[in-house]
Amino acid sequence: DGVTVAELERLCVAFAAEAGRFIRDERPPRMGVSATKSSETDVVTVMDRRSEELLHALIQQARPDDGILGEEGADVAGTSGLTWVVDPIDGTVNYLYEVPAYAVSVAVVVGDPHAQGGWSPVAGAVADPSLRVVHHAGRGTGAWTSPEDPSDDRSPVRLSVSAEERLGRTLLATGFGYAAHVRARQAQVMLRVLPLVRDIRRIGSAALDLVRVAEGSVDAYAESGLNAWDLAAGWLIVEEAGGVVVGEDRDSAPGKILTVAAGHALVEQVRTLFVSGDDTAEDTAQE
Ligand code: IPD
Repeated sequence: DGVTVAELERLCVAFAAEAGRFIRDERPPRMGVSATKSSETDVVTVMDRRSEELLHALIQQARPDDGILGEEGADVAGTSGLTWVVDPIDGTVNYLYEVPAYAVSVAVVVGDPHAQGGWSPVAGAVADPSLRVVHHAGRGTGAWTSPEDPSDDRSPVRLSVSAEERLGRTLLATGFGYAAHVRARQAQVMLRVLPLVRDIRRIGSAALDLVRVAEGSVDAYAESGLNAWDLAAGWLIVEEAGGVVVGEDRDSAPGKILTVAAGHALVEQVRTLFVSGDDTAEDTAQE
């Protein structure tokens, strides 16, 4: 329909900011855990569902022919060739405990994010409601951090990845899946990785981990078993900040394989470090 990347980016920012404000400002005083998913550690709050409903309504109103894939079950096949891939609260456990590191991730991808054939993000936004900012990128337009409030006249800040080249000086972010057998393997990998890097951060939101790589506030990020909604927006933000993301998530079923994001000089070193042990291939996928 001739929509531009800039227009899709603008919509991603607006929708992520609105859902971000919603989950922050409407947080019930006593949050309940409404369900668990793959295990007791994998929680979904009422606000996960309500945030996804809000995103769904905003997207359908603005872009009725596009598809929608969401973490909490949205799965609409579109006719335009564009699909919105949304995580209504990334970092649900932080949100539940009031740790201020949770996000709303909204991306538009070309191709089918379920398909084996590959997909690619064209625009994306990651709202960080605790800091009242939105990180965003469009294919070819750079990666930026803007104030959440559009009437705030502070200029957007351009993001760029760290130039670190040495593993021993690398601040490495990672994350852990929810299933016990996945975590057991990830812990094995940490035994090998921790002595070799400057330090490890487990921030608790894959979307914010990717944003941190993009802004250079960590040097690298690696995690296995991510899903398309965790990484679609952050992936583009890293690439547009001059970084590299490797992983087969776009070439096979989403969410099966290790994802690594870093600057050019580090990405292959980190990938090798993670795959040289147990934490490989499909059997680490989350249920
Ligand atoms: C999770 C977070 C976490 C990562 C998990 C994700 P959710 O997403 O991004 O940091 O380690 O792999 O599933 O469940 O909070 O949306």
